[in-house]
Amino acid sequence: MNKISEQQKKEFLDELLEFLKFPSISADSSYKDDLNKTADWVSKSLIEAGCDSSEVIKTKGHPIVYGEKIVNKDYPTVLVYGHYDVQPPDPLNLWKSPPFEPVIEKTEIHPDGAIFARGACDDKGQVYMHIKAFQLMVQNQNLNCNVKFMIEGEEEVGSNNFEEFIRNNKEKLNADIILISDTGLSNINSPTLTVGLRGLSYMEIKVIGPNRDLHSGTYGGTIYNPANALAKIITSLIDDTGKITIPGFYDDVIDIDKSKREEIEDKSNFNVDSFKKSLGINDVKGEKGYTTLERKSIRPTLDVNGIWGGYTGEGSKTVIASEASAKISMRLVPDQDWNKISDLFIEYIESIIPDSISVEIIKHHGGSPYVTPEDSKGYKCAIEAYKDTFGVEPIPQKDGGSIPIVPMFDEVLGLKTILMGFGLDSDSIHSPNEHFGLKNFYLGIDTIQNFYKHFGK
Ligand code: BES
Ligand code: MN
Ligand code: MN
Repeated sequence: MNKISEQQKKEFLDELLEFLKFPSISADSSYKDDLNKTADWVSKSLIEAGCDSSEVIKTKGHPIVYGEKIVNKDYPTVLVYGHYDVQPPDPLNLWKSPPFEPVIEKTEIHPDGAIFARGACDDKGQVYMHIKAFQLMVQNQNLNCNVKFMIEGEEEVGSNNFEEFIRNNKEKLNADIILISDTGLSNINSPTLTVGLRGLSYMEIKVIGPNRDLHSGTYGGTIYNPANALAKIITSLIDDTGKITIPGFYDDVIDIDKSKREEIEDKSNFNVDSFKKSLGINDVKGEKGYTTLERKSIRPTLDVNGIWGGYTGEGSKTVIASEASAKISMRLVPDQDWNKISDLFIEYIESIIPDSISVEIIKHHGGSPYVTPEDSKGYKCAIEAYKDTFGVEPIPQKDGGSIPIVPMFDEVLGLKTILMGFGLDSDSIHSPNEHFGLKNFYLGIDTIQNFYKHFGK
């Protein structure tokens, strides 16, 4: 591994700060031009880091950046994936500094400083570790793998155009392994290595009642209030033991046997008290019979992500809204199929609504869960790489989030993925004041180089 000099540390950081200044918000079409500019910037940075070629590939949505360096046809090829798009930064008033004007601040967890900006951890900071690790190996002439980069701009909105890209470019994307840094680790003293991701089914319900908004005095108590009905529908989706009540929901869930579950729990350094403390809550809640670690990794869940209807402005307005809506995410585990789960959700809601109201249900994007095989060469090299950097064996742990393109890589390209993430749960991804530790950034660059060192052998 090539050590990063103080001078290089400063250079790499300054460049990352440039990257973070682009407001590459994929969900909001008014930022289309900013996404194009970000893609151009990434493409240029791949060339500067040492790629033989790089291109910005147009799609129906935001562009994909592709770059490669073929060192030797006989060397193994690593296909690096990441995303330059970010989540919308709102609510803006909760940011301590503007989301696209990165600043460095020390925190309790990051005493060496952390970069505060939207995308710092998810995923620009982590993408940039790969580009810089690659640059160091090229400069020091010890890159012993071919490298292909694909950095997309629509991960946060479901990767639909990227999926089409991989289906149409199987030859070009020919590789031995996929390497991604878009997840996290427990802490840098005893790191976890992500060995699985949950799937996702994302739904929206609209409950429709009377033909117009009504005075809540004149009409209240005489009809089904859509907002009340929506609340009742939502509460009937989970029972008192934390089980999801949709018939058939658990049919395809593979139960992990007790001894394996105990082994995971024993090895883990997850601490429920620090978890509660970090969130400012007194107690945890979830499916009965499972620990918090299990509830956030190996069990399926259902949560409201947004809910609205009626008057939500300042003061009060006495009104019964004619409509009320909610957005709901279900996180899925092997072997649940997101299309099947979405259909079961629709069927169940339709079976429980009262006659006098109607519902419209929208099936948004989704994706399958993923499990990293622990017997592959790539996985073993990842373990060695963590040992080299951190001096300890990493703890295998499944992550609760989803990257729907990862199971597609397996299905379409026949390639397994190594999830080498360096963020912390407390880095506030998708939330105000997202940040990424400087130490995590530099240790990530080291670990990625260590991975190549072992994989290229
Ligand atoms: N990087 C995250 C996924 C993630 C975060 C995995 C933390 C594990 C731990 C990714 O950018 C993301 O936010 N994915 C979305 C799904 C996507 C379809 C919008 C998610 O998990 O909500
Ligand atoms: Mn991400
Ligand atoms: Mn994300």
